[in-house]
Amino acid sequence: MPHKILSIETSCDETAAAVYESEKGLMSSVLFSQVEQHKKFGGVVPELASRSHIEKISTIVQDALKQANSTFESIDIVAVTNSPGLPGSLLVGLCFAKSIAWAKNKKLIGVNHVEGHIFSSFLEQNVPFPHLCLVASGGHTSLCLVKDFGKYEVIGKTLDDAAGEAFDKIAKLINLPYPGGPIIENLATEERFYDFFTYPRSNKKTLNFSFSGLKTAVLYDLVKRGHYDMKTKTFLNSKDTALQKKVASSLLVCIGDIFCEKIELALKPYPEVKAVTFAGGVACNKYLKQRISKICDNKNIPFFAPSPKFCTDNGAMIAFVAQYKAEQNKFSNLELDIFT
Ligand code: KG4
Ligand code: ZN
Repeated sequence: MPHKILSIETSCDETAAAVYESEKGLMSSVLFSQVEQHKKFGGVVPELASRSHIEKISTIVQDALKQANSTFESIDIVAVTNSPGLPGSLLVGLCFAKSIAWAKNKKLIGVNHVEGHIFSSFLEQNVPFPHLCLVASGGHTSLCLVKDFGKYEVIGKTLDDAAGEAFDKIAKLINLPYPGGPIIENLATEERFYDFFTYPRSNKKTLNFSFSGLKTAVLYDLVKRGHYDMKTKTFLNSKDTALQKKVASSLLVCIGDIFCEKIELALKPYPEVKAVTFAGGVACNKYLKQRISKICDNKNIPFFAPSPKFCTDNGAMIAFVAQYKAEQNKFSNLELDIFT
């Protein structure tokens, strides 16, 4: 049966909503980013994030409905991210979604945020199954074998920090603002500056990732070269753009190597894989997309990555997941809770 979905996403620092019609596709996708509010703290402050969601959610939802020429009455389903994420932030979206579902007698669907990222490529393209998906964001880094809509297996994941977190934390070390990923990308040149820090090799036998060692390696190298004072936790060469460029380039090449190594390793035991997708905020990065795309070209496998607006957190990907969950009759009830 055709259906119209209103989705709500508040898992971290973006208040987002979208409207998706099963017969027409995405009708609207609206977002408020809190990045300016968190910038001065060098990362997301959970308490501030929840408060900002509370302030913005009503306007964002109404804008999404308006842009889709819709009303609360005309939608059939309310979808909401209920895991994983910051508890206080998730609760704002969940309570808002439940209130609409209860007051307007609409169906409710809880959606996993990472599943949203995994299927975000489908908002613009048709990706064949089975495929391999690398999801890399500020909170998650996983390799998944995606067999069908809603059917995927996590075959590798980070054991500590996420890739986006590594960009953000290392950017902070060298006095660059939050979020570090896009700034590192702009500063980096494609030259290799491996000599700059001892590159901690990842374990080549496993599909799991580890990024916390990378931050320590950069830190120790900066200390050794006299650019960082451990006692006061200060970068001593804030004005030295050439130095920041070297660190940015080394880091980008290093994360590119790690991603490529893991994808090549994952493709070996899964010869049935028909495509590779790259999703999550880190997939905005052009250099990383090029590196992965090159591997895929060599292996004659198509490569897909969503447009940047669908790589970072958004409501559209949540609505897309809800759309196939509705077809599979996977509805939630008003007891739906958050999981972190
Ligand atoms: O998916 P996302 O919006 O939120 C989470 O679910 O975490 O991802 C945000 C992360 C941040 O860590 C940010 O630094 C990173 O994505 N990011 C990038 C780029 N743009 C955003 N990392 C590398 N290169 C970029 N161009
Ligand atoms: Zn995300």
